[in-house]
Amino acid sequence: MSDASAGRAAGWRPLVMIVLGVAIVALLVGRQVRPASASLPEVMTVPAFALTEQSGQRFESRQLLGSVWIADFVFTNCAGPCPIMTARMNELEDRLADDERVRFVTISVDPQRDTPEVLRDYAARVGAGPRWSFLTGEVEPIYRLCREGFLLTVARQRAESGKVIDETLASDLPAASQPQHEILHSTMFVLVDHAGVIRGYFDGTDVTALAGLERAARVLSRDARVPPALAALPAVNATLNGCAALLLSLGYVAIRARRPRVHRTLMLAAFACSVMFLGSYLTYHAFAGETRIAATGAVRIAYLVLLATHVLLAAAIVPLALLTLVRALRADLSRHRRIARLTLPLWLYVSVTGVVIYVLLYHAYPPPGLRL
Ligand code: HEM
Repeated sequence: MSDASAGRAAGWRPLVMIVLGVAIVALLVGRQVRPASASLPEVMTVPAFALTEQSGQRFESRQLLGSVWIADFVFTNCAGPCPIMTARMNELEDRLADDERVRFVTISVDPQRDTPEVLRDYAARVGAGPRWSFLTGEVEPIYRLCREGFLLTVARQRAESGKVIDETLASDLPAASQPQHEILHSTMFVLVDHAGVIRGYFDGTDVTALAGLERAARVLSRDARVPPALAALPAVNATLNGCAALLLSLGYVAIRARRPRVHRTLMLAAFACSVMFLGSYLTYHAFAGETRIAATGAVRIAYLVLLATHVLLAAAIVPLALLTLVRALRADLSRHRRIARLTLPLWLYVSVTGVVIYVLLYHAYPPPGLRL
């Protein structure tokens, strides 16, 4: 290697080291972030099933893939907990009306009586919406699904001479719900994710459990939209913004101290940070779409002003930073200096507000779906 090219390589080395250092710090920060859904256990995958919907149409479990769903087991003739469970499910349906990825599935544990027509009337009576399916079928597969597929209790029993006889799967079972038969079933609501995995059980008769179930459903629904592997990107982006702000400040200090080579390295590293940020930001938002802050009142207004100025100036920074760089690299220094005095404060504003927006949106006032 000639002396000149060795010198050039040595000139780039600090820049490469800084950029690598920033990338490593950003990745380390990202590794600390776990999606909110990570605290919901993965209990088991619901086995595939095929039943009949209240419309009379065949309903297959694969129709639910990609949706988050809440399932329960009831029967329309129940004088016990079923009406309460259905009222709670109805309330959940209202609470989650804005989240189209969440669906509701009610399966009858008295399928001989609960024909599609009966279920259709029942659904109409409770005012169920189009995302709530009522399913019926054969006793045996439904009971097996309930017990082995959802890990819930269900039994049909008969008391005889003081003894309880389980007739759940008896082949000569008389028509269900005859006076001497009692259907016992769990009152749990089962939360299932977009891949068909059970992620939680919530008491369907307990009004205080609804808020937790709603939050968990929103968190899983977000997972269906934003792959959990990308959940760390907002933190990575904030780190890149923070590093850009730091490098820009140090670069300014360097030029004031008449250290143009240091200034050049730091400014180019700041530029690299912002380019990495842009790539990461666009990737995340391609999946996540818009994320709305949960704050209200003055905080919300202040946030929106911050966001609007941040976005507008971020767009302006792209041509400004490029022009500033080009002028410097072409040694057009007086014009570089002139434009740089505008570019630098705006770029600093965009980088710092990027961090502030991240803290407000993801930590101080996270919208539903970001936190359990
Ligand atoms: C886009 C990133 C850059 C920004 C924001 C930036 C910012 C600035 C600012 C604000 C000044 C004026 C400082 C003062 O008021 O005294 C300045 C001057 C200077 N910059 Fe940059 N700079 C950048 C990139 C570069 C690069 C890549 C180089 C080297 C190739 C460079 C070389 C210089 C030099 C030599 C001066 C002194 C010019 C003079 O005194 O006439 N800058 N820069």
